[in-house]
Amino acid sequence: MNNRKKIFEFLQNNKGIWISGEKISKALGISRTAVWKNINFFRDKGYIIESFSNLGYKFISSGHGIDEYKIKNNLDTRLIGQGSIVVYDETDSTNKQAFNLASQGMDEGSIIIAENQSSGKGRLGRHWVTFPGQGIYFSMILRPPVPPTKASGLTIVAAVALSFTLEEFKIVSHEIKWPNDILINGRKASGILSEMKATPDSIDFIILGIGINLNVSHESWPDEIKDIAVSIKDALDEEIDRCSFLQALLYNFEKYYFMFLDGNFSEIIDIWKNRSGIINKKIKATLIDESFTGTVTSINNEGFLVVATESGERLINSGDIHYI
Ligand code: BTN
Repeated sequence: MNNRKKIFEFLQNNKGIWISGEKISKALGISRTAVWKNINFFRDKGYIIESFSNLGYKFISSGHGIDEYKIKNNLDTRLIGQGSIVVYDETDSTNKQAFNLASQGMDEGSIIIAENQSSGKGRLGRHWVTFPGQGIYFSMILRPPVPPTKASGLTIVAAVALSFTLEEFKIVSHEIKWPNDILINGRKASGILSEMKATPDSIDFIILGIGINLNVSHESWPDEIKDIAVSIKDALDEEIDRCSFLQALLYNFEKYYFMFLDGNFSEIIDIWKNRSGIINKKIKATLIDESFTGTVTSINNEGFLVVATESGERLINSGDIHYI
Protein backbone atom coordinates (compact mmCIF):
# COMPACT_ATOMS: atom_id res chain seq x y z
CA MET A 1 0.00 0.00 0.00
CA ASN A 2 1.42 3.43 -0.85
CA ASN A 3 1.94 6.13 1.78
CA ARG A 4 -0.99 8.24 0.60
CA LYS A 5 -3.42 5.37 0.89
CA LYS A 6 -2.02 4.49 4.34
CA ILE A 7 -2.58 8.06 5.52
CA PHE A 8 -6.09 8.12 4.01
CA GLU A 9 -7.07 4.97 5.90
CA PHE A 10 -5.44 6.19 9.08
CA LEU A 11 -7.41 9.43 8.93
CA GLN A 12 -10.70 7.59 8.32
CA ASN A 13 -10.05 5.28 11.29
CA ASN A 14 -9.09 8.11 13.62
CA LYS A 15 -11.74 10.71 12.82
CA GLY A 16 -12.08 13.44 15.47
CA ILE A 17 -9.00 12.34 17.44
CA TRP A 18 -5.84 14.38 17.96
CA ILE A 19 -2.76 12.37 16.98
CA SER A 20 0.78 13.62 16.73
CA GLY A 21 2.74 13.43 13.46
CA GLU A 22 5.25 11.25 15.31
CA LYS A 23 2.61 8.71 16.32
CA ILE A 24 1.24 8.56 12.77
CA SER A 25 4.73 8.15 11.39
CA LYS A 26 5.47 5.26 13.80
CA ALA A 27 2.10 3.56 13.32
CA LEU A 28 2.45 3.57 9.54
CA GLY A 29 6.19 3.08 9.28
CA ILE A 30 6.70 6.21 7.16
CA SER A 31 8.76 9.36 7.71
CA ARG A 32 7.33 12.44 9.42
CA THR A 33 7.98 14.42 6.25
CA ALA A 34 5.86 11.92 4.31
CA VAL A 35 3.09 12.30 6.91
CA TRP A 36 3.21 16.08 6.62
CA LYS A 37 3.32 16.03 2.79
CA ASN A 38 0.37 13.68 2.50
CA ILE A 39 -1.70 15.53 5.10
CA ASN A 40 -1.16 18.65 2.98
CA PHE A 41 -2.12 16.74 -0.16
CA PHE A 42 -5.48 15.84 1.36
CA ARG A 43 -5.97 19.37 2.69
CA ASP A 44 -5.46 20.68 -0.84
CA LYS A 45 -8.19 18.28 -1.92
CA GLY A 46 -10.58 19.96 0.53
CA TYR A 47 -10.26 17.61 3.50
CA ILE A 48 -10.66 19.35 6.81
CA ILE A 49 -7.71 18.39 9.01
CA GLU A 50 -6.96 20.58 12.01
CA SER A 51 -3.44 20.90 13.37
CA PHE A 52 -2.06 22.27 16.60
CA SER A 53 1.58 22.38 17.62
CA ASN A 54 1.53 20.10 20.67
CA LEU A 55 -1.43 17.95 19.67
CA GLY A 56 -0.68 17.04 16.08
CA TYR A 57 -3.52 16.50 13.61
CA LYS A 58 -7.27 15.96 13.90
CA PHE A 59 -9.23 14.70 10.88
CA ILE A 60 -12.66 16.31 10.75
CA SER A 61 -14.11 15.45 7.33
CA SER A 62 -13.16 14.75 3.75
CA GLY A 63 -15.20 17.70 2.42
CA HIS A 64 -17.29 17.66 -0.73
CA GLY A 65 -14.62 16.85 -3.29
CA ILE A 66 -14.21 13.60 -5.18
CA ASP A 67 -10.92 11.73 -5.30
CA GLU A 68 -9.74 8.21 -5.99
CA TYR A 69 -9.25 7.40 -2.29
CA LYS A 70 -12.81 8.34 -1.39
CA ILE A 71 -14.24 6.53 -4.41
CA LYS A 72 -12.39 3.31 -3.59
CA ASN A 73 -13.06 3.50 0.15
CA ASN A 74 -15.53 0.69 1.02
CA LEU A 75 -16.52 0.37 -2.66
CA ASP A 76 -18.25 -2.97 -2.73
CA THR A 77 -17.55 -3.95 -6.35
CA ARG A 78 -15.37 -6.56 -8.00
CA LEU A 79 -14.65 -4.78 -11.29
CA ILE A 80 -16.21 -1.36 -11.70
CA GLY A 81 -14.09 1.29 -9.97
CA GLN A 82 -11.45 -1.27 -9.03
CA GLY A 83 -9.12 -0.42 -11.94
CA SER A 84 -7.52 2.99 -12.37
CA ILE A 85 -9.34 6.08 -11.22
CA VAL A 86 -8.31 9.29 -12.94
CA VAL A 87 -9.68 12.51 -11.48
CA TYR A 88 -9.39 15.81 -13.36
CA ASP A 89 -10.17 19.21 -11.90
CA GLU A 90 -10.78 20.23 -15.48
CA THR A 91 -10.63 18.45 -18.82
CA ASP A 92 -12.30 18.72 -22.21
CA SER A 93 -14.53 15.65 -21.88
CA THR A 94 -14.19 12.56 -19.70
CA ASN A 95 -15.45 10.47 -22.63
CA LYS A 96 -12.64 11.82 -24.82
CA GLN A 97 -10.02 11.18 -22.14
CA ALA A 98 -11.37 7.71 -21.40
CA PHE A 99 -11.31 6.91 -25.13
CA ASN A 100 -7.62 7.86 -25.31
CA LEU A 101 -6.74 5.94 -22.15
CA ALA A 102 -8.67 2.86 -23.27
CA SER A 103 -6.89 3.01 -26.66
CA GLN A 104 -3.62 2.86 -24.70
CA GLY A 105 -4.85 -0.28 -22.91
CA MET A 106 -6.32 1.01 -19.65
CA ASP A 107 -8.18 -1.74 -17.79
CA GLU A 108 -11.87 -2.48 -17.84
CA GLY A 109 -13.64 -0.98 -14.84
CA SER A 110 -11.44 2.14 -14.80
CA ILE A 111 -13.15 5.44 -14.10
CA ILE A 112 -12.32 8.86 -15.53
CA ILE A 113 -14.02 11.67 -13.64
CA ALA A 114 -13.89 15.46 -13.82
CA GLU A 115 -15.09 18.38 -11.75
CA ASN A 116 -15.33 20.47 -14.90
CA GLN A 117 -15.48 19.73 -18.63
CA SER A 118 -14.79 22.45 -21.17
CA SER A 119 -16.45 20.49 -24.00
CA GLY A 120 -18.68 17.89 -22.36
CA LYS A 121 -20.26 15.73 -25.05
CA GLY A 122 -23.97 14.99 -25.25
CA ARG A 123 -25.86 12.65 -27.57
CA LEU A 124 -26.29 13.56 -31.25
CA GLY A 125 -23.34 15.98 -31.21
CA ARG A 126 -24.85 18.20 -28.53
CA HIS A 127 -22.92 19.98 -25.79
CA TRP A 128 -23.32 18.78 -22.19
CA VAL A 129 -23.16 21.59 -19.65
CA THR A 130 -21.02 20.90 -16.58
CA PHE A 131 -21.36 22.63 -13.19
CA PRO A 132 -18.09 22.29 -11.24
CA GLY A 133 -18.47 20.86 -7.77
CA GLN A 134 -22.21 20.42 -8.21
CA GLY A 135 -22.68 17.45 -10.52
CA ILE A 136 -21.10 14.09 -11.27
CA TYR A 137 -19.40 13.72 -14.64
CA PHE A 138 -17.58 10.50 -15.36
CA SER A 139 -16.83 7.79 -17.90
CA MET A 140 -16.24 4.07 -17.44
CA ILE A 141 -14.06 1.85 -19.59
CA LEU A 142 -15.81 -1.41 -20.44
CA ARG A 143 -14.56 -4.31 -22.50
CA PRO A 144 -17.57 -6.63 -22.74
CA PRO A 145 -16.93 -9.89 -24.61
CA VAL A 146 -20.10 -9.52 -26.71
CA PRO A 147 -20.65 -8.63 -30.39
CA PRO A 148 -20.96 -4.91 -31.27
CA THR A 149 -24.66 -5.38 -32.08
CA LYS A 150 -25.30 -5.87 -28.35
CA ALA A 151 -23.51 -2.64 -27.34
CA SER A 152 -26.57 -0.41 -27.18
CA GLY A 153 -27.86 -2.66 -24.39
CA LEU A 154 -25.29 -1.08 -22.10
CA THR A 155 -27.01 2.30 -22.05
CA ILE A 156 -30.15 0.46 -20.98
CA VAL A 157 -28.12 -1.24 -18.24
CA ALA A 158 -26.79 2.15 -17.11
CA ALA A 159 -30.25 3.73 -17.10
CA VAL A 160 -31.61 0.90 -14.94
CA ALA A 161 -28.67 1.26 -12.53
CA LEU A 162 -29.25 5.01 -12.31
CA SER A 163 -32.92 4.48 -11.64
CA PHE A 164 -32.23 2.09 -8.73
CA THR A 165 -29.60 4.46 -7.35
CA LEU A 166 -32.05 7.36 -7.42
CA GLU A 167 -34.53 5.23 -5.55
CA GLU A 168 -31.94 4.45 -2.87
CA PHE A 169 -31.51 8.20 -2.46
CA LYS A 170 -35.29 8.63 -2.11
CA ILE A 171 -36.04 9.92 -5.61
CA VAL A 172 -38.85 7.45 -6.07
CA SER A 173 -40.76 9.44 -8.64
CA HIS A 174 -38.79 9.50 -11.87
CA GLU A 175 -38.91 7.86 -15.27
CA ILE A 176 -36.47 6.59 -17.86
CA LYS A 177 -36.96 8.22 -21.24
CA TRP A 178 -35.66 6.25 -24.19
CA PRO A 179 -32.92 5.63 -24.75
CA ASN A 180 -31.38 6.64 -21.47
CA ASP A 181 -32.39 9.99 -20.03
CA ILE A 182 -33.64 10.11 -16.48
CA LEU A 183 -36.52 12.53 -16.05
CA ILE A 184 -37.90 13.92 -12.82
CA ASN A 185 -41.24 15.67 -13.32
CA GLY A 186 -40.58 15.60 -17.06
CA ARG A 187 -37.20 17.35 -16.77
CA LYS A 188 -33.81 15.84 -17.43
CA ALA A 189 -31.72 14.95 -14.38
CA SER A 190 -29.07 12.87 -16.08
CA GLY A 191 -27.80 11.71 -19.45
CA ILE A 192 -25.73 8.82 -20.77
CA LEU A 193 -23.42 8.77 -23.78
CA SER A 194 -21.78 5.59 -24.95
CA GLU A 195 -19.02 5.44 -27.52
CA MET A 196 -17.36 2.36 -28.90
CA LYS A 197 -14.22 1.15 -30.63
CA ALA A 198 -14.90 -2.12 -32.39
CA THR A 199 -14.31 -4.28 -35.43
CA PRO A 200 -17.37 -5.75 -37.20
CA ASP A 201 -17.12 -8.83 -34.97
CA SER A 202 -15.83 -7.72 -31.62
CA ILE A 203 -15.72 -4.81 -29.23
CA ASP A 204 -12.34 -3.38 -28.33
CA PHE A 205 -13.88 -1.11 -25.69
CA ILE A 206 -16.93 0.93 -24.82
CA ILE A 207 -16.81 4.26 -23.04
CA LEU A 208 -19.92 4.81 -21.02
CA GLY A 209 -20.17 8.44 -19.95
CA ILE A 210 -22.70 9.59 -17.41
CA GLY A 211 -23.58 13.14 -16.39
CA ILE A 212 -25.77 13.70 -13.34
CA ASN A 213 -27.24 17.03 -12.27
CA LEU A 214 -26.89 16.06 -8.64
CA ASN A 215 -26.54 19.22 -6.54
CA VAL A 216 -26.83 21.83 -9.28
CA SER A 217 -28.41 24.90 -7.76
CA HIS A 218 -31.39 26.49 -9.37
CA GLU A 219 -29.59 29.74 -10.20
CA SER A 220 -26.86 27.89 -12.14
CA TRP A 221 -29.00 26.81 -15.10
CA PRO A 222 -28.40 28.82 -18.26
CA ASP A 223 -31.57 30.13 -19.96
CA GLU A 224 -31.49 27.58 -22.77
CA ILE A 225 -31.86 24.60 -20.44
CA LYS A 226 -33.54 25.97 -17.35
CA ASP A 227 -36.98 24.74 -18.44
CA ILE A 228 -35.88 21.27 -19.46
CA ALA A 229 -33.31 20.34 -16.81
CA VAL A 230 -33.66 19.57 -13.13
CA SER A 231 -31.27 18.79 -10.33
CA ILE A 232 -31.74 15.99 -7.86
CA LYS A 233 -31.09 18.45 -5.06
CA ASP A 234 -34.07 20.53 -6.23
CA ALA A 235 -36.31 17.48 -6.44
CA LEU A 236 -35.30 16.31 -2.99
CA ASP A 237 -34.79 19.68 -1.37
CA GLU A 238 -31.45 18.54 0.04
CA GLU A 239 -27.90 17.94 -1.13
CA ILE A 240 -26.57 14.45 -1.69
CA ASP A 241 -22.96 13.51 -1.04
CA ARG A 242 -21.51 13.11 -4.54
CA CYS A 243 -19.09 10.36 -3.63
CA SER A 244 -21.72 8.24 -1.88
CA PHE A 245 -24.04 8.59 -4.88
CA LEU A 246 -21.25 7.65 -7.27
CA GLN A 247 -20.29 4.59 -5.21
CA ALA A 248 -23.91 3.41 -5.10
CA LEU A 249 -24.20 3.92 -8.86
CA LEU A 250 -21.00 1.96 -9.57
CA TYR A 251 -22.29 -0.87 -7.37
CA ASN A 252 -25.68 -0.96 -9.11
CA PHE A 253 -24.14 -0.66 -12.55
CA GLU A 254 -21.87 -3.62 -11.87
CA LYS A 255 -24.79 -5.72 -10.70
CA TYR A 256 -26.73 -5.19 -13.95
CA TYR A 257 -23.59 -5.29 -16.11
CA PHE A 258 -22.80 -8.77 -14.82
CA MET A 259 -26.41 -9.76 -15.44
CA PHE A 260 -26.06 -8.46 -19.02
CA LEU A 261 -22.82 -10.41 -19.50
CA ASP A 262 -24.53 -13.53 -18.14
CA GLY A 263 -27.05 -13.27 -20.97
CA ASN A 264 -29.98 -12.06 -18.83
CA PHE A 265 -30.64 -8.90 -20.79
CA SER A 266 -34.36 -9.63 -21.16
CA GLU A 267 -34.77 -9.32 -17.36
CA ILE A 268 -33.10 -5.90 -17.52
CA ILE A 269 -35.38 -4.89 -20.39
CA ASP A 270 -38.40 -5.83 -18.26
CA ILE A 271 -37.15 -3.61 -15.43
CA TRP A 272 -36.49 -0.83 -17.94
CA LYS A 273 -40.01 -1.15 -19.37
CA ASN A 274 -41.56 -0.89 -15.90
CA ARG A 275 -39.58 2.22 -15.15
CA SER A 276 -39.90 3.96 -18.51
CA GLY A 277 -43.61 4.53 -18.87
CA ILE A 278 -43.07 4.65 -22.64
CA ILE A 279 -44.90 1.51 -23.70
CA ASN A 280 -48.18 2.38 -25.49
CA LYS A 281 -47.23 6.07 -25.65
CA LYS A 282 -47.64 8.04 -28.88
CA ILE A 283 -44.36 9.59 -29.96
CA LYS A 284 -42.72 11.64 -32.64
CA ALA A 285 -39.32 10.20 -33.54
CA THR A 286 -36.68 12.45 -35.09
CA LEU A 287 -33.87 10.55 -36.78
CA ILE A 288 -30.91 11.97 -38.72
CA ASP A 289 -32.75 12.24 -42.02
CA GLU A 290 -36.46 11.80 -41.26
CA SER A 291 -39.12 12.00 -38.62
CA PHE A 292 -42.31 10.04 -38.08
CA THR A 293 -45.00 9.40 -35.52
CA GLY A 294 -46.25 6.16 -34.03
CA THR A 295 -47.01 4.23 -30.88
CA VAL A 296 -44.30 2.48 -28.89
CA THR A 297 -45.10 -1.20 -28.54
CA SER A 298 -41.91 -2.56 -27.01
CA ILE A 299 -38.16 -2.47 -26.75
CA ASN A 300 -36.37 -5.41 -28.30
CA ASN A 301 -33.54 -7.56 -27.01
CA GLU A 302 -30.92 -5.30 -28.56
CA GLY A 303 -32.31 -2.20 -26.85
CA PHE A 304 -34.05 -0.87 -30.02
CA LEU A 305 -37.36 0.90 -29.59
CA VAL A 306 -40.20 -0.84 -31.44
CA VAL A 307 -42.74 1.63 -32.87
CA ALA A 308 -46.00 0.83 -34.67
CA THR A 309 -46.52 3.40 -37.46
CA GLU A 310 -49.06 3.75 -40.27
CA SER A 311 -46.54 2.22 -42.64
CA GLY A 312 -45.69 -0.72 -40.38
CA GLU A 313 -43.35 -1.51 -37.54
CA ARG A 314 -40.16 0.56 -37.18
CA LEU A 315 -37.10 -0.11 -35.03
CA ILE A 316 -35.13 2.86 -33.72
CA ASN A 317 -31.68 2.69 -32.16
CA SER A 318 -30.66 6.32 -32.21
CA GLY A 319 -32.36 9.66 -32.48
CA ASP A 320 -34.72 11.73 -30.40
CA ILE A 321 -38.26 11.05 -29.35
CA HIS A 322 -40.98 13.33 -28.00
CA TYR A 323 -44.25 12.27 -26.44
CA ILE A 324 -47.25 13.62 -28.37
C1 BTN B 1 -26.93 13.18 -23.26
O1 BTN B 1 -27.96 13.05 -22.59
O2 BTN B 1 -26.93 13.88 -24.28
C2 BTN B 1 -25.69 12.47 -22.80
C3 BTN B 1 -24.90 13.31 -21.87
C4 BTN B 1 -23.65 12.62 -21.34
C5 BTN B 1 -22.78 13.55 -20.53
C6 BTN B 1 -21.64 12.86 -19.88
S1 BTN B 1 -20.82 13.89 -18.69
C7 BTN B 1 -19.55 12.71 -18.55
C8 BTN B 1 -19.28 12.15 -19.92
N1 BTN B 1 -18.31 12.96 -20.63
C9 BTN B 1 -18.84 13.60 -21.67
O3 BTN B 1 -18.22 14.37 -22.42
N2 BTN B 1 -20.13 13.27 -21.79
C10 BTN B 1 -20.55 12.33 -20.78
